[in-house]
Amino acid sequence: MGTLPRNRTGSQQYDEDKLGFGDIFTEHMLTIEYSAADGGWGSAKIIMVQDLSLHPAGMVLHYGQQVFEGLKAFSGPKDSDILLFRPDMNIARFNRSCERLCIPPLDPKIFMDQMAELLRRDRDWIPRSPGTSLYIRPTVIATDAHLGVRPSKKYLFFIILSPVGAYYPEGFEPVRIMVTDKYARAAAGGVGEAKTGANYAASLLAAEEAHAEGFTQVLWLNAVDKSAIEEVGTMNIFFRIDDEIITPKLGGTILPGVTRDSVLQLCRSKGMKVSERVISIGELVSAANKGKLQEVFGSGTAAVISPVSHFRYLGHDYIVADGKTGQVAKELFDEITGIQLAKKPDPYGWVVNVG
Ligand code: COI
Repeated sequence: MGTLPRNRTGSQQYDEDKLGFGDIFTEHMLTIEYSAADGGWGSAKIIMVQDLSLHPAGMVLHYGQQVFEGLKAFSGPKDSDILLFRPDMNIARFNRSCERLCIPPLDPKIFMDQMAELLRRDRDWIPRSPGTSLYIRPTVIATDAHLGVRPSKKYLFFIILSPVGAYYPEGFEPVRIMVTDKYARAAAGGVGEAKTGANYAASLLAAEEAHAEGFTQVLWLNAVDKSAIEEVGTMNIFFRIDDEIITPKLGGTILPGVTRDSVLQLCRSKGMKVSERVISIGELVSAANKGKLQEVFGSGTAAVISPVSHFRYLGHDYIVADGKTGQVAKELFDEITGIQLAKKPDPYGWVVNVG
């Protein structure tokens, strides 16, 4: 393939077939400022991507009042297509996260319309090689210059765009995950279900320790007694045990993933037995020991469907599906990416064309 940017201006030249995740940015960004004193959210501007200017007392820098989202735009069969996958879900989750972080919500229609406008402006940056997309990162930060702890009175909402390939270096090859009983990601009543930077900052040390031992990601257990499985650092997690598809139920500590919801709907529509319930690490280990654990896979916007070949718990290593990609993970990957690219029927009307 070896496609190079088509009509793109600017200095960044790259090979679409070698895209990683999150290093390359398009030309333009969207900004909307909020000021309580000036009556709320102002008007949207599309400007060249540039450094932000922020007072060193900007509240996001001290107290982490921040929310973000992640979604993807895909090229479609027609040159003019700009295909989004369930953007309404991301916008709704963004506003729920804002509510948790005391950030004023954005009008969902303005969010959608302005995001579409930005995408049309930078449409030539949507990659076309297999496995690539234009990752969209809406973010809001507290910008008030103030050192007392309270919600900010000023915010900056912005959207940046990044052409991406696979999230993990493994691509769609299986990843290895390490179960941590040392750290916790979220506790009931905390911010675990909000998409805020703090959750990711809190996960870094465990992830670094896992990387040092050759694992791609951490599998988190519940904070209280480290018995129930919650999620992987950047994905929700699914298990196939005795032909039951199981994922931990949402309950305030787990991110309500858009891909998670899509996986559940697709599996139910195929007549599979699907359960959103508590699954303990003990049940997982016992299923693995009895040969009943057929598959493990993660789901996420960035990762799509990511098969898991191997997990480590309390120093014991467990191999899943002989270290290969399982059948359900493969089917889901093909189906979801097929729908996203308008190559397969979209019975739920998930894809929105803003081209
Ligand atoms: C996503 O899947 O979009 C995420 O937000 C994961 C990550 C890159 C933080």
